[in-house]
Amino acid sequence: MMLAVSALAVASAAVAATAENIPKKKEFRIERGMSKQAMACIQCHKQESPGLFADWAASRHAAANITCIDCHQADPHDKDVSKKHFKQYERSDNKWGVSEYKIPVAAVVTPKDCSRCHPDEVKQYSRSKHAKTNIIVWKIDFWMQKGLNTDTERATGCYACHGSVLSVDENGELDKQTWPNVGVGRVNLDGSLGSCSSCHTRHRFSVMEARKPEACGQCHLGPDHPQIEIYNESKHGAIYDAFGDEYNWNAAPGTWTPGVDYRGPTCASCHMSGSGTVMTSHDVTERLSWETQAPLTVRPENFKPLPAQTNWKTERDKMKEVCKQCHGQTWVDDHYVKLDAAVETYNETYYKPVKAKLDEMYEKGLLDKSNPFDQVPEIEYYFLWHHEGRRARMGAAMMAPDYAWWHGFFECKHRFMVFMKEADEILASGKPAHKYEPFPGTGGDTKRPNMPMN
Ligand code: HEC
Ligand code: HEC
Ligand code: HEC
Ligand code: HEC
Ligand code: HEC
Ligand code: HEC
Ligand code: HEC
Ligand code: HEC
Repeated sequence: MMLAVSALAVASAAVAATAENIPKKKEFRIERGMSKQAMACIQCHKQESPGLFADWAASRHAAANITCIDCHQADPHDKDVSKKHFKQYERSDNKWGVSEYKIPVAAVVTPKDCSRCHPDEVKQYSRSKHAKTNIIVWKIDFWMQKGLNTDTERATGCYACHGSVLSVDENGELDKQTWPNVGVGRVNLDGSLGSCSSCHTRHRFSVMEARKPEACGQCHLGPDHPQIEIYNESKHGAIYDAFGDEYNWNAAPGTWTPGVDYRGPTCASCHMSGSGTVMTSHDVTERLSWETQAPLTVRPENFKPLPAQTNWKTERDKMKEVCKQCHGQTWVDDHYVKLDAAVETYNETYYKPVKAKLDEMYEKGLLDKSNPFDQVPEIEYYFLWHHEGRRARMGAAMMAPDYAWWHGFFECKHRFMVFMKEADEILASGKPAHKYEPFPGTGGDTKRPNMPMN
């Protein structure tokens, strides 16, 4: 008998140990203050879409009694009100599906909806290039303006990151080319710009998720803006890999503190979260002193398509204040000396000579401006600034030597030589460069969408 008893004791100890490691299951409690319509949403969706319900139930919103209605209630005449959804209140199979609980709902929830309760975050966000990216794209991008890609290529590519311009079709349903979409600069039917769930996925709306680099890396990656790869290879990224599971990701909003809650910064620490005397901001355009994505690097206030309403020196000081939570002044100042030198090298040694040669070919009629991608020197020029040149500048900005040199300046040299050889041959021969026709996958709508183009 002794044996059986001790076996039982071991088994129950094991159960207790596992139980400690499993987070307590959150039970959603029915609050007396909640309206019956709000209860109906929750109860029916708990059955119909348990994954969605569980996310909401585990969120701070649920704990604060913020219900589905607070975000999804629509005016019956709103353009995006869900017509299908009214049928949910004509169901005989579900006791919550009756007209007594009927509320018009819309699937789209915009920054304007969130602003009822989070006005500061929404105001900051609306100043950022995240919110205004669609305006920039439609002002300057050849792919869009010249119809050089198809609607499908745009919907599955550009819009998924930059955001779509939402519209409704002839049946009053959301246009399938534009929905679903949670891009950073989505143009909403209520005139607001952006989609808060691009970093705080619904329905957890978690600060923990947004503080992690993966939240940004979904869009900030690849050959032309490899910020997540740059971060991963930097010392800061290596520290995150080694110690990230010890960081206090769930510190209350605005209190996440370097040295206390984490020992190496993430994207959010440097670009958004509060640090020292610098306040948390949803405007990612703050703290920047260069436009390192542009063909010619300029100050943010001199970026013509959308001049930033900031002063580069003030913003640089804010970023330095973040660094100084963990580093000395000299370490930080010297980093910026190298960044400025990298910008100058890129502008003067690579960009300007290539641009001058390109312009000469256009002037002499050896290249044709009508399609800026169908002649080889045009593509070479694009790669120089849009891919390799960005990698060199951004690698230098965020401490990634492999990007600054091997994927950056090294490739710039190679591109420079190939471009110059071709350009000189074309100029010497006086014969226009070969034009590739027909250019594949064209036909995207070139009409500027209806949005504030200021
Ligand atoms: C009786 C069940 C039921 C009730 C009550 C109910 N829903 Fe739904 N809801 C559904 C089902 C099923 C779907 C998916 C099918 C569809 O979109 O019509 C859905 C879809 C939705 C959608 C997506 C609509 C779209 O057009 O894509 C939203 C948003 C939504 N519900 C929110 C709510 C809110 C808010 C409430 C409370 C005011 C609510 N629901 C009440 C069953 C219900
Ligand atoms: C804090 C605001 C908020 C609350 C509360 C909220 N939602 Fe949502 N919901 C959103 C956002 C944001 C989206 C994503 C759509 C967008 O980006 O416009 C969304 C999307 C949806 C969708 C469509 C997504 C899909 O995958 O089909 C449904 C259905 C939905 N919500 C139902 C609900 C239900 C049911 C509740 C309550 C249990 C609820 N929501 C609570 C903000 C909210
Ligand atoms: C009706 C008011 C209301 C609306 C609308 C609302 N929220 Fe909230 N939200 C709150 C409250 C209250 C809290 C704080 C809960 C707490 O501190 O426990 C909160 C907390 C948050 C947090 C912090 C969560 C965390 O992990 O600490 C985020 C992020 C958030 N909301 C995002 C959103 C977004 C995005 C929207 C729009 C899609 C939205 N909220 C709409 C009331 C609202
Ligand atoms: C994987 C996500 C993603 C896709 C897909 C994508 N972009 Fe971008 N795009 C970005 C990011 C991130 C930046 C910011 C670059 C930076 O600052 O490093 C950017 C920058 C830009 C810019 C420069 C904006 C400025 O301020 O100078 C334009 C224009 C642009 N993209 C247009 C497009 C178009 C048009 C498409 C499709 C043909 C597209 N993008 C596809 C993520 C994406
Ligand atoms: C680019 C990513 C990103 C987007 C998009 C974004 N957030 Fe956040 N949000 C964050 C980060 C990171 C934090 C955490 C800041 C910190 O460390 O305290 C945060 C925190 C919050 C908080 C907690 C309070 C605070 O200010 O720290 C609220 C509320 C919130 N966000 C609402 C919103 C709303 C509303 C929108 C849409 C207008 C939005 N967020 C869009 C990244 C984002
Ligand atoms: C859904 C896609 C998406 C996500 C997620 C995203 N971004 Fe962006 N981000 C973009 C695009 C697109 C741009 C280019 C905007 C432009 O210049 O037109 C951009 C631009 C930026 C810029 C340059 C702003 C400027 O004024 O030049 C910074 C900094 C930035 N993002 C930081 C972040 C951080 C930090 C996160 C995560 C907390 C994040 N982003 C998450 C798409 C995204
Ligand atoms: C150690 C702090 C730090 C971390 C971590 C960091 N960045 Fe940066 N980032 C910078 C600095 C510094 C610059 C250059 C700022 C300037 O213009 O003066 C920069 C530049 C950028 C730019 C170019 C903006 C422009 O218009 O030129 C983008 C986009 C960006 N960061 C996004 C990200 C993303 C996404 C992550 C995470 C994957 C990240 N950053 C991680 C400090 C950081
Ligand atoms: C939360 C603390 C923290 C913040 C904030 C922070 N760093 Fe760091 N950084 C570190 C740590 C820790 C190391 C590792 C130092 C070592 O090599 O022992 C590091 C390393 C570096 C390195 C060395 C890279 C290498 O490859 O040798 C540079 C340069 C650097 N940081 C610059 C900056 C700059 C610039 C900022 C602000 C834009 C910044 N850091 C923000 C903690 C931080």
